[in-house]
Amino acid sequence: MADDAGAKAYGSPVAVAAALADMTKDERAIWRTADVPGRPSVAERNLDIPFPYGWFPALLSHELAVGDVRPLRYFGRDLVIWRGDDGAARMLDAHCRHLGAHMGHGGRVSGSHLECPFHAWRYDGEGVVQDIPYAQTIPPRLRKPCDHQWPVVEANRLIWFWYHPDGSPPEWEVEAFPEASDTDWTDYEIHEWRVFGSLQNMAENAVDVAHFRFVHGTATFPTSEMIWDGPRRTSIIDAGLDTPQGRVEARIEARMIGPGQSATRFTGVAETLLVAAVTPIEKDEVRVRFCFTQPRTQATPVAAMVAHGFIHEVCRQLDQDKVIWDRQRYLPKPIICDGDGPILRFRQYYNQFYAEWADVSVN
Ligand code: FES
Ligand SMILES: [Fe+2]
Repeated sequence: MADDAGAKAYGSPVAVAAALADMTKDERAIWRTADVPGRPSVAERNLDIPFPYGWFPALLSHELAVGDVRPLRYFGRDLVIWRGDDGAARMLDAHCRHLGAHMGHGGRVSGSHLECPFHAWRYDGEGVVQDIPYAQTIPPRLRKPCDHQWPVVEANRLIWFWYHPDGSPPEWEVEAFPEASDTDWTDYEIHEWRVFGSLQNMAENAVDVAHFRFVHGTATFPTSEMIWDGPRRTSIIDAGLDTPQGRVEARIEARMIGPGQSATRFTGVAETLLVAAVTPIEKDEVRVRFCFTQPRTQATPVAAMVAHGFIHEVCRQLDQDKVIWDRQRYLPKPIICDGDGPILRFRQYYNQFYAEWADVSVN
């Protein structure tokens, strides 16, 4: 129903807000990363679809100090990441080519190399074995890099890795967001979730215009200018907001560079950059960390209150989306109506990131 009476009938408070309303702040913090018991299987929800390729966040840069080795689990694979004495982060599949030890548990850094905890074989960042401390010769096959390469770069105070199902090289570069490395902007304020759904369903949310009113309780459907440019997508929403100080022009610019890098700039009411660190762990589990930074000049009490309220609202919306995403199926051929927003255009854009699969989800 599109008339005003219909809109009122569906207005705020919305149903998913009711599902969250009884939680205390502490309960909600636990809920955000807790398991969802009794979830249907990946197959039942039709989530056994390929992972899209691109740059994805592994860790925040400060979470990996020089000499650190950490196990990671992303894209349904066991991985290991380390930071060498040269300061560079490197990543490999976690299991040693010798006898299969997981090098993220007990492995250590030796120079720029990773030393396996089992028999101390030493690997470079391409998976070439550079040293076996007890052997006279290194078997020739170990002189070749691993088939699956995991290129790593650092930008925006995050460590990014390139995922491609074939291990093939990056097709575009990670984008730097100037505010993220500007000392006049605050350290990240980080909020974390585990979402038990598919990355594509989550990404589609941004262009799913109609859900804003019914899930988030916004008064109107946002309209935005959308720019599609190869792996990049930008949407710009200009909105006026009425505040106690009068009307303020606000702008939201959301930028997506492939399926794994996105940033949203909010200007007007409270200057904020949101860098979304969203990385799949399994076919039905995604790690989400929202990293907010704001100008330090907003640290005045009133500005800080507005800025804080703003972050709270963004997180509230993520909570509401999570209720849907945790149980949503993936539909390859959705039935779309007018007013839904450019969902099918978004799917055309997103399909370019599937190497193994061309799902042309357009009716
Ligand atoms: S299993 Fe890694 S060195 Fe033997
Ligand atoms: Fe949403």
